[in-house]
Amino acid sequence: MEYKNILFTVEEGVAIITFNRPKALNAMNSETMRELKDAVTVCKDDDSVKAIILTGAGDKAFIAGADISEMQNLEPQDALKFMELGHDTLRLLETLPKPSIAAINGFALGGGTEISMACDMRFASENARFGQPEILLGLIPGWGGTQRLPRLIGMGRAKEIVLGGGQLDAQRAYEVGLVNKIYPADRLMEETKKFAKKLAGMPVFTMKMAKHSINFGYDLSLDNAIRLEVECCAQCFSTKDQKEGMAAFLEKRKANFTGR
Ligand code: CAA
Repeated sequence: MEYKNILFTVEEGVAIITFNRPKALNAMNSETMRELKDAVTVCKDDDSVKAIILTGAGDKAFIAGADISEMQNLEPQDALKFMELGHDTLRLLETLPKPSIAAINGFALGGGTEISMACDMRFASENARFGQPEILLGLIPGWGGTQRLPRLIGMGRAKEIVLGGGQLDAQRAYEVGLVNKIYPADRLMEETKKFAKKLAGMPVFTMKMAKHSINFGYDLSLDNAIRLEVECCAQCFSTKDQKEGMAAFLEKRKANFTGR
């Protein structure tokens, strides 16, 4: 697929998806969401991609939300399609067997906060701002904000943000657990790439099992969730990487993982 609204590169096993509509603060229209879905599918299918970074072009925004000009006159059935496209894409991203990091370089409002929450981690620049301001538009979040936000930061804080429509700066987002790390804007990509490359060097199947256990165990009863974890853990013993990792530890050397 040819991309008009995103940039897609791969360096040293790390795919970088850059939302590239800076004049509209990278607002997410349906065309951009379809491109994201295609890029995420490429990341899933391409064995040379081991980790993914999502970021925004320009120095002002990650994504300032779903595109309000596209949504303004939607009828309910078209709105449903638009929201389902986002939901399908974000669930694909979230359940990818490979790790993803959102590098949030400015505004991440509405759909921007929601897209960042479908990534495994969020690294933010000091000028990043988060929020679910949909209520100010006569709307509620439609790409997972009412579900992923309470899971990440707790019900009370999520309600304060969704019902109040306010914004969080990077420091507050860090304090409530929405953001994993904060960096000065000029170091954000360098530091995110460094961590993504570290993740790209991890044993591939083990990574898949770790994400599977967390993603699909989270909403199960504790008994069932631990059962799932135990089975995922046992599966790791089928890999050469498990033998290599343990041999390397006992031989006091660095492990050489091959992804098998
Ligand atoms: N959709 C469409 N266009 C947007 C946009 C959005 N979400 N956010 C910004 N833009 C456009 C502006 O219309 C403006 O375009 P023009 O230059 O053509 O007028 C351009 O980007 C620059 O924006 P501003 O002039 O507003 O920049 P600012 O620095 O004064 O303010 C801002 C920045 C606070 C982020 C402000 O743009 C803003 O509040 N944006 C909307 C945020 C929002 O409400 N997001 C939620 C959208 S709904 C949603 O996401 C639903 C969902 O859950 C799926």
